[in-house]
Amino acid sequence: MISHVFPKDFYWGAATASFQIEGATKEDGRGESIWDRFCSTPGKILTGETGDPATDSYHRYAEDIALLQKMNLNAYRFSIAWPRVVPDGDGSVCQKGLDYYDRVVDGLLATGITPFVTLYHWDLPQALQDKGGWASRATLDAYVRFSDVVVHRLGDRVKYWMTHNEPWCVSILSNQIGEHAPGLHDRKLALQVAHHLLVSHGMVVPVIRQGCAEARVGIVLNMVPSYPATDSLADQAQARQDHARFNLWFLDPIAGRGYPQDAWVGYGSDVPQILPGDMETIAAPIDYLGINYYNRQVSHNPAGGEGSRLLNKRSETHLTDRDWEVYPQGLYDLLTWLGRGYLFENIILTENGASYHDAVQPDGSIHDALRLDYLHQHLAMLLRTIESGVPVRGYFCWSLMDNFEWAFGTSSRFGLAYTNFQTQQRTLKGSGIWYGKVARANALID
Ligand code: FCB
Repeated sequence: MISHVFPKDFYWGAATASFQIEGATKEDGRGESIWDRFCSTPGKILTGETGDPATDSYHRYAEDIALLQKMNLNAYRFSIAWPRVVPDGDGSVCQKGLDYYDRVVDGLLATGITPFVTLYHWDLPQALQDKGGWASRATLDAYVRFSDVVVHRLGDRVKYWMTHNEPWCVSILSNQIGEHAPGLHDRKLALQVAHHLLVSHGMVVPVIRQGCAEARVGIVLNMVPSYPATDSLADQAQARQDHARFNLWFLDPIAGRGYPQDAWVGYGSDVPQILPGDMETIAAPIDYLGINYYNRQVSHNPAGGEGSRLLNKRSETHLTDRDWEVYPQGLYDLLTWLGRGYLFENIILTENGASYHDAVQPDGSIHDALRLDYLHQHLAMLLRTIESGVPVRGYFCWSLMDNFEWAFGTSSRFGLAYTNFQTQQRTLKGSGIWYGKVARANALID
């Protein structure tokens, strides 16, 4: 039976990340992160901006919580800045940094909002990068210690933890493609980083459980389903390879299946070094899998050689202002594929959203009909997915408000709320007002 109601106790949330919102990068003892360094390198950020002030949430977190409240959301996903807590990565702990997250957590709980905490959303202390970053095993130990400190401080109040956000971005996008910090171009190194991220995830799972009796632990993967651009065998093979490298490479080790063999062979001598016990560590049982879904990939390999990526050519589809194809069917395909083939008891959609150039009306309102439509279409698809038996427990929109969108600076707006970066005033957009009604009704409304 088709209804428009979501399951009872569904989590309705919005997501952010420390570097994208906090600002105050030099305040209260915070150390330098790789993103501070990256931003100060000319040409890396489209707008030339830095993480200061972003949305100044280090000082304005109460306004953020008020926005969540205004939208009736019962969950908030945010991340902890490692350099705020352990400024040089593996040395002394900065109490003032921890105090900030105390305030955020207490503020959320006081308004009945469940905190979902990501331990690593990309802001590695620069001091650790200087010693090799995620390519060095020492960083894994430092990450365990940092996580232990955070969990001991917040674990009496925070139950939902995520070890990593999007290891594909942290490894491949940042160390092979070079688009994100630290901006390297080395595939072998990137694959070693990917492996270490997964191992560090597995190392931290028991640490969280130890420090937090009721912990619910997960990891967040960005998954992009691949579709062949044409029916040619070359395109089909390309789609399989893209799927293996982008999705299975991260998912399968976590699910205890090791690295996908075809991809392993295809990477040749670039494959990572694996130490005895690593694969068992990575496969530590988790309580939920976090999925970030934005779009699909259309795989094309006209010459039968190295493949290239194309946007959809089969039918007319809409693109967001980042040129990301709007393809809600991909969400259904991805999640039902996961539900059929893997045994995750709980899945949470930890990010989904769209970037559009918003115009502020003379009366101050923002009519972001395209974003609203994007969210509507994806939530309708999510409902279909749930009705077909996939255990999706929550949905987090990216993002609570427009913020510092990595290499795009503040030029790419994903928010449910509009941020005026001159005044830092936040105003709910039409999509945010609508999303709030959906959350209140726990049902898809028009
Ligand atoms: C994801 C990131 C998030 C945000 C969105 C648009 O890859 O996790 O921080 O930048 O994309």
